[in-house]
Amino acid sequence: MCGIVGYIGPKQAQEILLEGLSKLEYRGYDSAGLAVYNGETIGVQKSKGRLSELEARLKSRSLPGNLGIGHTRWATHGKPSDENSHPHVDQEQRFAVVHNGIIENYLELKEELQAKGRVFTSETDTEVIAHLLADLWDGDLVSTVQKVVARLEGAYALGIISEHEPDKMVAVRLASPLIVGVGEGENFIASDIPAILKHTRDIYVVEDGEMAVITREGVQLMKTDGTPVQRDTLHVDWDVVTAEKGGYDHFMLKEIYEQPKAIRDTMAGRIKDGQVDLSREIGMSEDQINNIERIHIVACGTAYHAGLVGKYVIEDLVRIPVETDIASEYRYRNPIITPNTLVVVISQSGETADTLAALREAKKAGARVLAITNVVGSSVAREADDVIITWAGPEIAVASTKAYTSQLIAIYLLGAYFARIRGTRAESELADIVTALQQLPEKADQVLGNTTAIQQFAQEIARHEDLFFLGRGLDYAVALEGSLKLKEITYIHSEAYAAGELKHGTLALIEEGVPVISLATQEAIYDKMVSNIIEVKARGAHVLGLALEGDQELHKSVDQVFTIPKTLPLLTPVLAVIPLQLIAYYACVARGYDVDKPRNLAKSVTVE
Ligand code: F6R
Repeated sequence: MCGIVGYIGPKQAQEILLEGLSKLEYRGYDSAGLAVYNGETIGVQKSKGRLSELEARLKSRSLPGNLGIGHTRWATHGKPSDENSHPHVDQEQRFAVVHNGIIENYLELKEELQAKGRVFTSETDTEVIAHLLADLWDGDLVSTVQKVVARLEGAYALGIISEHEPDKMVAVRLASPLIVGVGEGENFIASDIPAILKHTRDIYVVEDGEMAVITREGVQLMKTDGTPVQRDTLHVDWDVVTAEKGGYDHFMLKEIYEQPKAIRDTMAGRIKDGQVDLSREIGMSEDQINNIERIHIVACGTAYHAGLVGKYVIEDLVRIPVETDIASEYRYRNPIITPNTLVVVISQSGETADTLAALREAKKAGARVLAITNVVGSSVAREADDVIITWAGPEIAVASTKAYTSQLIAIYLLGAYFARIRGTRAESELADIVTALQQLPEKADQVLGNTTAIQQFAQEIARHEDLFFLGRGLDYAVALEGSLKLKEITYIHSEAYAAGELKHGTLALIEEGVPVISLATQEAIYDKMVSNIIEVKARGAHVLGLALEGDQELHKSVDQVFTIPKTLPLLTPVLAVIPLQLIAYYACVARGYDVDKPRNLAKSVTVE
């Protein structure tokens, strides 16, 4: 995830910025850069790759000065490259800007600025901000920044400096974290606390829609319309390790709680006027989309489970036959790939060896390949014909959580986009799906806001060695993911079953006290699911039921019920998986295992 740090004070900014950026390295990044005002002009140095590469460049041309901003970039718009690294500057290099987040209307702004003769040097959304600052410059930095942000749509944390007013730094926030660190005769900005912890523990948290004007002597907070904001500083007593995890005990928990943001970000800029538009991501003509005869979704592990949801979603919305396959099977099984087969590969890292090999096999057979991946510039992203990036930001915990939910969002967007083009769903139905998608972040927040029952249940199952997950339809696909999460971090043996399959063998394993997590969120097959629950309950299972808010029935057949907010049945997996992730997390903590680095597993599986 991108990181921001900024400094104004008596010391050399370069060292402070580099040191601050090094404290953000753990978040993952693909390039880095600094802009420092040297008393006359703004100097910029940036580089693709590790911070050490930037440092090497700074050895041959350092950036002296006491005011500066720095950035570590996790690519969203445009591949990792020197040009796409931040800071970005306007043509005359009078303004420099670092940005975390996504500017959704950057293409419109870019075209408008290009028409005025402004020359862009990167593929990023951020560069429009630097050019807009120059374009709207009115002789006052604060009011110019206000005019600029009034033109921006999306999410941003910004750090801005200008040669015109080198006595200050301006920071702005909308839906992307930003803090101001208060020192003595020096002040800081940062996207995350660890970046400035060495210098100060007194911070202002900048809220959405606010900006901060920072000089050596002080900090002025205001809303972006100029209304002053009064706020006390916060004293942070976290150590560096706690600060890296944003105050959470583990990265996995932090990432679980980042899901509302990851969901929102993955939709950003892809819904326009109430309709899904993926024409920027997918270069297929309407004819090509209309001609698709079958879809193969290929992936590994958690991404494969997202693909299983994809089968239901795409078949339901688009009425194209979909096969979802495990990449290590698909690559060796000689699948039937016709010229009108679309192969969708899903990979968080974009580097999984089997997924990449499957992609290459599909291309060799003449298929068009669409990738859903979290890493811009990854092998999968580079080799696919079309790419939908999931904007979940880097995942550090080995157990995937926010990548999965953002993969689901990418799949819904794909299904709704194809359904519109192929006319398989009425406009009004698609509009309902878009509305329901937009409500998901808030509903995910609700699930995360009330986890006491989940924590208690997790304590209970932590004592067991075997556990079952049951579900039908989409609930079964989610059950598989819940079971994988539990296995990988708690080492409890668990299995997910399509509930209708129980009596074909598995029921023999159910005995007194065996924990069973039963998902019953799909209204159309609810009664069938309840019958299966009664079957396991009758054999003594200890059952947790996962149901929709307002459910009046399930408590009669299970030991405990946990509810999630209602949404469209097709979208329920996004909310249903969250309690399962939390059960795995809290059971792992109760068993005392390493949550973020489970035994035998690696985050990116680049070998077969
Ligand atoms: C499980 C997990 C793995 C990955 C799998 C594919 O929590 O993270 O199952 O989903 O190794 O990885 P990517 O998505 O990077 O291809």
